[in-house]
Amino acid sequence: MSRSMDLSYILNHLGEDRERYFGAVAPPIVQSSIFAFPSVAKMREGFRDELGRHVYTRGNNPTVEILRRKVAALEGAQDCLMFGSGAAAMSAGAIACVSGGDHVVCVARPYSWTRAVLRDLLGRFGVTTTFVDGTDASNFESALTDRTRLIVLESPNSMTFEQQDLAAVATLARERGIRTLCDNSYATPLNQSPLALGIDLVAHSATKYLNGHSDVVAGALCGSAELIGQVFRGPYMTLGAILAPHDAWLMIRGLRTLPIRMQRIAATTAAVLDYLQAHPRVRHVYSPRASANPQLALTERQLHGASGLLTIELDAPDVAAIERFCDGLARFLMTVSWGGYESLAFPVCAVYPQDAPLHPAGALPLSLVRLSIGLEDADVLIADLEQGFARL
Ligand SMILES: Cc1ncc(COP(=O)(O)O)c(C=O)c1O
Repeated sequence: MSRSMDLSYILNHLGEDRERYFGAVAPPIVQSSIFAFPSVAKMREGFRDELGRHVYTRGNNPTVEILRRKVAALEGAQDCLMFGSGAAAMSAGAIACVSGGDHVVCVARPYSWTRAVLRDLLGRFGVTTTFVDGTDASNFESALTDRTRLIVLESPNSMTFEQQDLAAVATLARERGIRTLCDNSYATPLNQSPLALGIDLVAHSATKYLNGHSDVVAGALCGSAELIGQVFRGPYMTLGAILAPHDAWLMIRGLRTLPIRMQRIAATTAAVLDYLQAHPRVRHVYSPRASANPQLALTERQLHGASGLLTIELDAPDVAAIERFCDGLARFLMTVSWGGYESLAFPVCAVYPQDAPLHPAGALPLSLVRLSIGLEDADVLIADLEQGFARL
């Protein structure tokens, strides 16, 4: 977060110019694709700075701009671009940093579509990617080649929560003129500040905590004015994966309560974590703050507060038992994604056929269930889990 601005100012006032719209407390949704000019000279000025002025909504829109300024300030960034999804934000960040023949080093087990854009999409255009275990920063150094232009990080990741030492990776990248891009969706800007640790670009699936209400798919990319300008003139304007003004307005509304949602989620998650760590039918709990996490020291140093994601490995004899546990949950909704007001359960076994082995070679065990803790009372969630365990 920008240290010169307090959080309430960013969330309640920054970017909002109420005198320009009748003193309305909530900003207008500027539902216009184009903006007209009174003279050729003014239009020329607009073209000279499409990111800063209002010409065409694929470039910049006043409602989206309010959100851009708030998210940039939260990340302590000079600028931010909003996208129509987190996947678009990650893709644009990566595409802006590489050309055919370049090499990327990416942390092992990133979000699946981050892997896909690097390996499958950019791979088709002659970019190669090496995936490394990021829990040891020296693995990044060992994987570098003279064509490495980008290091892609996700700390923690969103299933098993391995972290990378962001300052160490940023230092080794900067010494070699390599760009770094970090997915900060899990932590939110409140709990981790990758730019302050030397990372160049920070991406968010704003679909998750930043919006927080499971009603918008959005992405954000934050960095220096120079780098964001490069992304803007490149993949942002060419691929056109923008956030619509109405979705930006919903996101501004969601963002207003980010700190209070995160406080509540952190407290409830701590209670659920204690319950799960002591439960006889839980083999393992994955969380940056789990007592068995070998990276607890890094958690303490790098990750302030906590988020509401944790993954449990059930002590289940077969997939049918996992299904009984999940099907029995009444308060946790069973679905993908995370970060909303409502608690969710995502069973890994749902992406496999029912007769798949519990421990597929080279993949995560099917007995993992990821939980996203929302805004319900802790005892309601614990009671729900308890009756799920009873069916196991
Ligand atoms: C860690 C992480 N990064 C990026 C994404 C992609 O975001 P979106 O779904 O908003 O495109 C997700 C989505 O689940 C995610 O979990």
